[in-house]
Amino acid sequence: MTGLLDAQEVSVRYGSLAALDGVDLRIHDGQRHALIGPNGAGKTTLLNVLGGSTKPQRGTVRFDGRDIGRLGPAARARRGINRIHQRPAVFPTLTATENVVVAALPRVIPRRRWWPGGRRRTAEHLAGPLLDQMGLTA
Ligand SMILES: Nc1ncnc2c1ncn2[C@@H]1O[C@H](COP(=O)(O)OP(=O)(O)OP(=O)(O)O)[C@@H](O)[C@H]1O
Ligand SMILES: [Mg+2]
Repeated sequence: MTGLLDAQEVSVRYGSLAALDGVDLRIHDGQRHALIGPNGAGKTTLLNVLGGSTKPQRGTVRFDGRDIGRLGPAARARRGINRIHQRPAVFPTLTATENVVVAALPRVIPRRRWWPGGRRRTAEHLAGPLLDQMGLTA
């Protein structure tokens, strides 16, 4: 069975150093995964490959059945793959909800041309439960 996110045989080399060597990862819809490993194991490199900021020399990344290997980070974000970085980078002038709404907007915009109540309201509906899940509502 294929996953929602499927990486197969992903390899990234930096000169003679193999940062990733034939990595397979399959994540099904609704699953939550953690990736652990020592410093230099290749965790960030793998996230960069999934997010589209690093192109692997070998291997494929499929999302929702489609090969997304040629898509950059912005196009992947519009499909629902968002990469966040180790150091949080928030918009300091926006509220917590607004920051999450900004992240949710790309998911709202491409799917339909028209949203009941508008895109912003829809994004707020997406953001609310997410903030709640993370214990950030207050
Ligand atoms: N741009 C780069 N150029 C050269 N080597 C790199 C580059 N990025 C990562 N590496 C090397 O690739 C290997 C994997 O690095 P990566 O940053 O993916 O590891 P990590 O698991 O995220 O480590 P950490 O726990 O320290 O964040 C390391 O040996 C690192 O030095
Ligand atoms: Mg890292």
